[in-house]
Amino acid sequence: MILIINFGGQYCHLIARRVRDLGVYSEILPYNTSLEKIKKINPSGIIFSGGPSSVYDKKAPLIDKRILNLNIPILGICYGLQLIGKLTNSKVLNGKLKEFGKKILYIKKQSTLLKNLSKKEQIWMSHGDLINSMSSDFNILASTDSCKIAAFENNNKKLYGVQFHPEVIHTLNGIKIFENFVFDICNAKKNWGIKDLPNKLIKEIKKEIGNNSVIMGVSGGVDSAVAATLLNKAINERLHCVFINHGLLRKNEEKEVINLFENKLKFKHFHHVDASKLFLEKLNKISDPEEKRKIIGHTFIQVFEDKVFELNKKYKNIKFLGQGTIYPDRIESAQPSKIASKIKSHHNLTLPEKMKLKIIEPLKELYKDEVRKLGKELKIPNELLNRHPFPGPGLAIRILGEITNEKLNILRESDYIFIDELKKSKQYDKTWQALAALFPVKSVGVMGDSRTYEYIISLRAVTSVDAMTADWAKIPNELLEKISNRIINEVQGVNRVVYDITQKPPSTIEYE
Ligand code: XMP
Repeated sequence: MILIINFGGQYCHLIARRVRDLGVYSEILPYNTSLEKIKKINPSGIIFSGGPSSVYDKKAPLIDKRILNLNIPILGICYGLQLIGKLTNSKVLNGKLKEFGKKILYIKKQSTLLKNLSKKEQIWMSHGDLINSMSSDFNILASTDSCKIAAFENNNKKLYGVQFHPEVIHTLNGIKIFENFVFDICNAKKNWGIKDLPNKLIKEIKKEIGNNSVIMGVSGGVDSAVAATLLNKAINERLHCVFINHGLLRKNEEKEVINLFENKLKFKHFHHVDASKLFLEKLNKISDPEEKRKIIGHTFIQVFEDKVFELNKKYKNIKFLGQGTIYPDRIESAQPSKIASKIKSHHNLTLPEKMKLKIIEPLKELYKDEVRKLGKELKIPNELLNRHPFPGPGLAIRILGEITNEKLNILRESDYIFIDELKKSKQYDKTWQALAALFPVKSVGVMGDSRTYEYIISLRAVTSVDAMTADWAKIPNELLEKISNRIINEVQGVNRVVYDITQKPPSTIEYE
């Protein structure tokens, strides 16, 4: 396996992703993991992630220098490179020559790390500091216009570094660098795949749960459905699923989810709670995005707890709480990410804290596309597996500002038309996620011979691999026009439709 040490980089788990894509298992641990633990894991290679700090910061995340003596190859990326620089007494320049965005890398020397790359490569830079000089046993492999040491290699010490980010798609041949590091430098073997996973996971669940029962919240999304299906196969009637309608679901969603779990997946105990009134009351007049997220999170816990309490009285041995947590969720909420800047608070993981239930998370090691593959192995219907992700706070974060029933209705209808047309034109499966959002401003239009003054609907469709970075989907113009026409004609309260063409970063996929 390849161990990734997290120094707080936003793209840390993209690194793990890339390694797994190569068929090699990878895991992320925080920078303050003990040397003993790392020795015990004995990985084939170690990657130091990027991070927002400067190695000169008082609170900069550092690492035990002795990690360099373990005789395990280490690749430093961005901050990781600077850290290797600091640990080897190289000169790190502080914040003088910042670079951000696409750059050209000029490769000057043959090396194992940059094998199979051309002399000029497009790469993605995002740094403040850089290494200015290193001792002569380090081979300087490549540079950019403003960064002299953009990549280095020291085969004797098994130390490697790149100042740019090979893990993001804008570094066009980044995957080759990982291939070179993982196979040629670390000699790792391909042994990570999905086929054997269902049996292994079901066995583990059975062992962990014993004769107890599990309660689990499901949303109708891929993660919770796959996790629940694994649990269902392992413990069957001892699984209780709870589906909460928070009033922020899409059109027909409640009916569809109930039908799927009860009729198609044949779950024995599927409980649903309609708490929409309570949620909408609590959200009344709230416009701050983080406040909305917090209210939804807390109310969700409250409703869920009430249901657990009720079920607990009836079925005495409920001891576990199942969760559809996947690997990126854990990394985003884990301790080391406290050093990463907070972008949005996802509420999904705060649930269990107050409950006295043990947590079981069968998908905790997997990335989204791995979860989909696992779902396929478990014969979960494609219509569910290929569903776009839908955020926990639902339509609340797609109505910018205050939520009202009127806005919810407008958004539901618009979103329905958008998704319906994407499905009909076979564009749905080509996009990672598509959504409509409602802007809380009105604009002037003309319909028939009259002036209108109505809301604006923004359509957003993105392509992505794991939602960490995303590009806007290049949907055919004719289709966009058709969708726009349908929304204007069929949804009362909208007189303007716009298409969002921002990438992530700098935007995010959702609007709040
Ligand atoms: P952003 O907007 O951060 O979204 O680019 C990345 C992905 O995460 C989803 N998302 C959430 N999912 N609870 C969730 O379960 C949340 O609070 C939440 N917020 C965003 C979003 O839909 C996208 O797929």
